[in-house]
Amino acid sequence: MIPARLIESKRDGERLPPGELGAFCRAYLKGEVEEYQMAALLMAVYFQGLDGDELDALVSIMIDSGGRMDLGRFSSPRIDKHSTGGVGDTVSLALAPLAAEMGMVVPMMSGRGLGHTGGTLDKLESIPGFRTDLSLEAFDRVLDAVGVGMIGQTPEIAPLDRRLYDLRSVTGTVPAIPLIAASIMSKKLAEDLTGLVLDVKLGQGAFISDPDRSETLARTLVSIGESRGVPTRALLTAMDRPLGRAVGNALEVREALECLSGAGPVDLRSVVVALAGEMACAGQLVEDPEAGSRQAEKILDGGGALERLRRLVEVQEGDPRVVDDPHRLPQAPEVRELTAARTGWVHAVTPTILGYGVVELGGGRTRLGEEIDPAVGFVLEARPGDEVRSGDPLARVHARTPEEAHRGVEILDRAYRLGDGPPDLPPLVAGRITREDLRSARSAR
Ligand code: URA
Ligand code: CA
Repeated sequence: MIPARLIESKRDGERLPPGELGAFCRAYLKGEVEEYQMAALLMAVYFQGLDGDELDALVSIMIDSGGRMDLGRFSSPRIDKHSTGGVGDTVSLALAPLAAEMGMVVPMMSGRGLGHTGGTLDKLESIPGFRTDLSLEAFDRVLDAVGVGMIGQTPEIAPLDRRLYDLRSVTGTVPAIPLIAASIMSKKLAEDLTGLVLDVKLGQGAFISDPDRSETLARTLVSIGESRGVPTRALLTAMDRPLGRAVGNALEVREALECLSGAGPVDLRSVVVALAGEMACAGQLVEDPEAGSRQAEKILDGGGALERLRRLVEVQEGDPRVVDDPHRLPQAPEVRELTAARTGWVHAVTPTILGYGVVELGGGRTRLGEEIDPAVGFVLEARPGDEVRSGDPLARVHARTPEEAHRGVEILDRAYRLGDGPPDLPPLVAGRITREDLRSARSAR
């Protein structure tokens, strides 16, 4: 294998023999292929794509670059959910304990904030003491005790993905569907799952903003999981607007606690319940997702999932008192409101403006490893589709200083668009991709 020859082949749109791609990656891991050569190959893949066999080879190499979880001791279905990332996407914090309460083992491995999107790890770490940096051994003990655990990618899991991800993030090669799909699925398939549900976001605030490409990503993810014997399904959900009302780490933990108490924003609850239904169905606990969703609603209203979160917080060394008393979460001293300048309807609240707004207030990173302020962010009073009168509150900013609060109001003002008459909003759950959809697509071709 001559690295430059392989790069040239991909550049020119040729198909790489899977063995050669494997040899290139293994040489990279050993330091025999340079960072600039891998960067060049990634850029070639960005433009030329990967076919099914190449993608399969890449996923295998990424998984085999590290260890895997071993969860065979559990008799319950082992199910995880992964989101492609959004703004105010509070789902995981509520869904993981809910799914455990429904009878699944949930070994959830999440990420940090990236660009304008928030990350579950950052949100969890706003709970005082909560640790997400557990070893796989410690994670096993958490799963044994609570049936659900929430950690970051450990150094043992898919180290090749980690290195490629860091390289992609500085070489303009993140938004390539095969690279995103291999990155997500190598981590998920190392979790020893019996089922996987993907929440692929659609719209302006999604990682990939073109809806057709989001659907292609969903199909690619489902086909990788299915081809490796893990029942996998995807929902396509709305990210043309933030989900729920809270955007920002501690503010979203608070919102998740509301959801787990049977309250909170209706849209957040709908997405949580829809995904819980799909997880239960992937785990063969119910006949169809609708039955799973009905069960999820009952559990949310009964408080069992909130109790499950309390135990999770406790075993991951967080302060469990926040579960009953959210005032114990970090709070920003400055809160300011944006009010409506006119009477009308909220037509849009642009998610990327709020997502980058949180970063600007200190709640997200501009450099790898930077400390963040968990308390800052935004809470929407009026959401897209709501009718407002002039002077009504639209949203509040939670900031560290008066100057930042002032800046936060400006950011909110840019994000909100008011208009006449109710807007046409895309549905919250716009589609579902299952194994059957892959088959029908193939036979249609
Ligand atoms: N999330 C991942 O884990 N990997 C990607 O490449 C993109 C999003
Ligand atoms: Ca939210």
